[in-house]
Formats: sequence, C-alpha cells, structure tokens
Amino acid sequence: MNFNNILVEKENGLAKITINRPKKLNALNKETIEELSASFEALEEDATVKVLVITGSGEKAFVAGADISEFANFSVDEGGFLAKKGQEMLFDFIENLSKPVIAAVNGFALGGGLELAMACHFRIASENAKMGLPEVSLGVIPGYGGTQRLPQLVGKGKAMELIMTAGMISAEEAKACGLVNHVVPLEELLLLAEKLANKMMRNSSVAIGAAIRAVNANFEDGINGYEVEIAEFGECFGTEDFTEGTTAFLEKRKANFPGS
Ligand code: COA
Repeated sequence: MNFNNILVEKENGLAKITINRPKKLNALNKETIEELSASFEALEEDATVKVLVITGSGEKAFVAGADISEFANFSVDEGGFLAKKGQEMLFDFIENLSKPVIAAVNGFALGGGLELAMACHFRIASENAKMGLPEVSLGVIPGYGGTQRLPQLVGKGKAMELIMTAGMISAEEAKACGLVNHVVPLEELLLLAEKLANKMMRNSSVAIGAAIRAVNANFEDGINGYEVEIAEFGECFGTEDFTEGTTAFLEKRKANFPGS
C-alpha cells in the first residue's frame, strides 16, 4: 500500500508505523487518520506481523494533535461526526487489535496525539517527550477517547488536572503517573520498542490476543471482565499454542508456538 502521510516497515515480525508529516509536527489530518486506519486493518490480518510500534518522524513530535486547520470551521454535527468516526475507525480499532501495539512517543504527544498513544496497549517515551490534552485551550474537549482513557491510566484527579489546565507534562512526570512505562534517550527509543517486541514475540500470540480481550473487558460498559477472563482462559485450552507451551515446559525446552 502507498501512503502520503505514513511509512510502514515490516521486519522480523515487527511492523513499524511512522507518522510522517514532520513540518506539521505529524498532526493528524483526515487523510492521515484514514491511512493509519487502513494500515492497522492490513497489519491485523498480516500473519507475518506479531507486534506493532507506532512513532512519529523527526525528533520533535510524536503527534501534535488533530489537525486544527481542518476542523476550525466545523458545525456541531460535523464536530460530533469527526469524533465518532475517528474513534470507531482508528482509536477503538487499535485498542482492540489482537496484537500488541506499542506507542513510541518521541516528542510532543498532544491532544489527538496523546489520545492515539493512549489507545495503544502501552507507551514508552523518549526523554524529550511532552504530553498533554490542550483541547480546552481551544474551546473544545478531547474527542478521540481522551476523557475516558486518561483517567483509566492515571486516575481521575490527575486526569482532571491535566485536562482542565490544558498543561503539558514531561516524560518523567508521565512515567511517575503511569502514563508511560519507560523513558529512555531518544536514540534508544526504537531499540527499546524492538527489545520489548522480541520479548512478546517469544510468547503465544493466541494467548496474547486473549489477554488483550480480557484486560479490555474491564473497561467496557455492561461487560463482566471476570467472566470474559474465564471464557478466554477456557478457550486457550483448545489451542495448539497451549499444547506446545505446556509440552515444552514439561520437556524442559523452549516453546516454539505455532500461533494457532
Ligand atoms: N494542527 C495543525 N497544525 C499544527 C498542529 C496541529 N495540532 N500542531 C502544530 N502544527 C503546525 C503549526 O501550525 C506549524 O505550521 P506552519 O509552520 O505551517 O505554521 C508547524 O506545525 C510547526 O508548529 P509550531 O507551532 O511552529 O512549532 P512550535 O515548536 O512553536 O510549537 C507546539 C510546538 C506543539 C507547542 C505547537 O505547535 C502547538 O501548540 N500545537 C498545537 C497543539 C494542540 O493544541 N493540539 C491539540 C489539537 S486538538
């Protein structure tokens, strides 16, 4: 697939998606969201891909938000549609992907950029990264899941403060409040992503998919996460990965998971 705003590279089971609009600090315009959506859909179906990492091009920004120039004149209906469509086609889709998605936050992650990072399964950041939800400074609120996912990650009080002050926090502050898992120098960011990806790739991809569904169930209205866990746990017993994992353990050798 050819894209105008993103780069997609695949190597040894890891797919790297780079948002590539550095002159606009990788802001998410409509076309970029559509391209990201198409690439995530394709990578979910691609059996050669086991883990995904998303990052921004350049040394300044992961994503500096939704592209403000595109929605400045929107009506109430258009605003609502923008948020609904984006959430459905990209942010929720990433969260529910059956393969791990790591956000490698390499600079500003603001507004839609932080929301994109928060839709990923976990986040790592470079020392220069800065994160925030500045929407209320523009007279709007986060619309790509930020009011929901930020409190899930950092707690309600901290999320309220960040959203209402529209302030930015440093990578270290983001780590302290649980928004990112690791902070490293910029030049080590993708190496860390690869290291974590390789660790995950040694495990059963089928079980990882089940774990993602079970963890996500905790945050779905009307769904009992414990029941989802029980069902997913049971399903694992019917997989070839389970047979291989337990057999390998008993035979004192490393598992070679078929991924089925
Ligand atoms: N939407 C559209 N364009 C954006 C953008 C966004 N969210 N963020 C940055 N850009 C563009 C700027 O307009 C500028 O374009 P230009 O060179 O054609 O004028 C370019 O990216 C570089 O940004 P600039 O503001 O000059 O860089 P800076 O280093 O002075 O400031 C930021 C960096 C991130 C602090 C600043 O760009 C900013 O506040 N961006 C908006 C963040 C935001 O509110 N996001 C939430 C949107 S809902």
